Amino acid sequence: KLDEAIEREVRPWLDLVDSLRAQGIQDELSLPQIAVMGDQSCGKSSVLEALSGVQFPRGSGLVTRCPVQLIMKRTKPGDGWHGKTSVEWKRGPQPPAAGHVASPEALVGVIEELMNAVCEGQKNGFSSDFIAIEIKSPDCPDLTLIDLPGIVRTAVSGQSQGVITEVNGLIENYLRSERTIILAIVPANQDVATVDILERAKKVDPSGKRTIGVLTKPDLINPGGEAEVLEVLSNNRKPLKLGYVMVKNRNQLQLREGVSLKEAHDAEMDFFKSHAVFKTVDSTCLGVESLTKRLVSLLTVRIKDALPNMKWELQESLSEVERDLIPLAQHAPQKFGDKLKTLVQLIGVFCRLLRSSIKGEYRDPAL
Ligand code: GDP
Ligand code: MG
Ligand code: NA
Repeated sequence: KLDEAIEREVRPWLDLVDSLRAQGIQDELSLPQIAVMGDQSCGKSSVLEALSGVQFPRGSGLVTRCPVQLIMKRTKPGDGWHGKTSVEWKRGPQPPAAGHVASPEALVGVIEELMNAVCEGQKNGFSSDFIAIEIKSPDCPDLTLIDLPGIVRTAVSGQSQGVITEVNGLIENYLRSERTIILAIVPANQDVATVDILERAKKVDPSGKRTIGVLTKPDLINPGGEAEVLEVLSNNRKPLKLGYVMVKNRNQLQLREGVSLKEAHDAEMDFFKSHAVFKTVDSTCLGVESLTKRLVSLLTVRIKDALPNMKWELQESLSEVERDLIPLAQHAPQKFGDKLKTLVQLIGVFCRLLRSSIKGEYRDPAL
């Protein structure tokens, strides 16, 4: 069960950032967000599934070919499941597959169709335009995550050098963004020294203040390798200020056999509780539930911390717009004025939230 105090607090802050992103202003304003990154097949989709309770497209190779923003909204117990999708692009109307989604099961197909639409005709079959998915359910947390394509290190069959450059460039943009929390997915059965995402995260975030490590596949650790993993998990081996959480998800066979997420979740806790080495580990470092709690509070705290500067940056942009573009707007279509008004309204929301959140630590660079 999520901490109720946190739960009550988070929604407005996440909504604010989600609506800013929906305004397409993330190019001008760096937004607090959590981005899921790691090698191909390290377990990114599995982690997202475990966090959201819905299935994501899987397969070998490059399944995720554009960023996917997953907005999760927790509703009251007994409320049904609601899903809707859209694409954020400037190429015209929404593709036919976008819109209301009937069931969690239908989502995989919709994502695949939208991904095809977004990436079609793009050089290298990739796009930095993104798919937005909004899920409302009593079983998901209040959280927004960005799923990114897996890091490509070598060109395998059918992949050009261009693909590598493009995917890595896309990942690099997210890595460099100061307000992005890097959710680095690291297979526990792999030597951390060789994990690319940790190296790349370290370059942009040397102290690990915005990198959180997720160790996956603990059931695949080679016999005798547990002690080494324990060193990583207890933050002694590759220390990150935000630390590590270890999760166990379904393997390929369990997926084929139709093991449900609920069953997988129970099996996860049983696995850790009965594990000779991991049963002694602090429970806040183990399991999807611990990961969820950490991410929800981390994101909320980061949004609050970033608000004063964001407000200032937004006001700067707005004065620029007013100075340079308002004279033009008189002749421009109504749409432009509307967008500007929405932006101003959002700033208003910012300010009200800010004022109500002041607890003696308020630093507004504009004052
Ligand atoms: P992605 O490419 O990073 O999105 O990775 P996936 O989530 O698709 O996972 C790749 C493969 O690893 C799939 O066959 C999963 O079933 C498997 N996998 C993921 N997590 C675990 C885990 O905790 N244990 C085991 N045994 N297999 C896992
Ligand atoms: Mg995947
Ligand atoms: Na992938």
